[in-house]
Amino acid sequence: MNIKIYTSIQADMIGGRVINLLEKLSGRVLIDLVDSVQLFYKLISFKAGIEFKKYLVQCKNFDDYYNLVDSFTYSLYKKSKYLVAIKLYQKKDEIIEFLKIFTKIKPKLILEIGTYDGGTLFFLSKFAHPDATIITIDLPIIRQGAGYSPAKIPFYKAFKSKNQKIHFIRENSHTIAAITKVQKILKRKKIDVLFIDGDHTYKGVKKDYENFSPFVRKGGLIAFHDIVEHPNELKCEVDRFWNEIKENCEYREFISEKGKKWAGIGLIYKNT
Ligand SMILES: C[S@@+](CC[C@H](N)C(=O)[O-])C[C@H]1O[C@@H](n2cnc3c(N)ncnc32)[C@H](O)[C@@H]1O
Repeated sequence: MNIKIYTSIQADMIGGRVINLLEKLSGRVLIDLVDSVQLFYKLISFKAGIEFKKYLVQCKNFDDYYNLVDSFTYSLYKKSKYLVAIKLYQKKDEIIEFLKIFTKIKPKLILEIGTYDGGTLFFLSKFAHPDATIITIDLPIIRQGAGYSPAKIPFYKAFKSKNQKIHFIRENSHTIAAITKVQKILKRKKIDVLFIDGDHTYKGVKKDYENFSPFVRKGGLIAFHDIVEHPNELKCEVDRFWNEIKENCEYREFISEKGKKWAGIGLIYKNT
């Protein structure tokens, strides 16, 4: 299955003829090729990062960052279907309000669940402390609406400033493996901000909260995306968990007035 995906990408990159020939050869050759394609994509991704940084240094405020995220794409040559891009799945006015509070506490340790196309990862790193460590978790699979290619990591690394660190964990956030990897990075230090935007089912968001809120320091922030009721999305039940949890905490809600059918950011201040 994977082999087919990479093969079609490769066909796009080098015109298809060589690959068609190689496809007729043994699986062994193909697997070797998959590895080299990954390396090739890492290089493209790295080049995209260099290009991205050229624009990044010119950014002076939120709007500049937002426009950059909105418009940036990179491809090795004009007709390639393979583009390196960054996308944000947040409402602009909601993320602005959230970032105002986020910046105030100058977070040095941040955990994000839901890396995807890097949008929130970018804004979290830009508005964090210049020495911040950011851990970002996503599933180890790639499909429509989930995960990202590991080849994209060199591009994502271009988001951080000089003294920041970004750790990429490609695990299901509900597993012991994910928790262990987070613990290893934290080395007993506590998280300042936890941003939950992964599995949106009731059970999923609850599990993320249960797994990772113990690592958040007292007074730290725990944010949830998609807290408004999503009538058209069966699997989005963040609102159910959010309405349960907010009752016992100091909380803030950022819900854009323009059409309330999706998104919404809720945050609680951890009180223990
Ligand atoms: C809505 S996207 C995140 C968007 C991103 N935060 C942004 O706004 O730019 C949700 C991501 O969560 C990931 N996800 C879903 N369930 C997960 C789980 N159990 N563990 C880790 N990641 C998960 C999906 O693969 C997907 O990439």
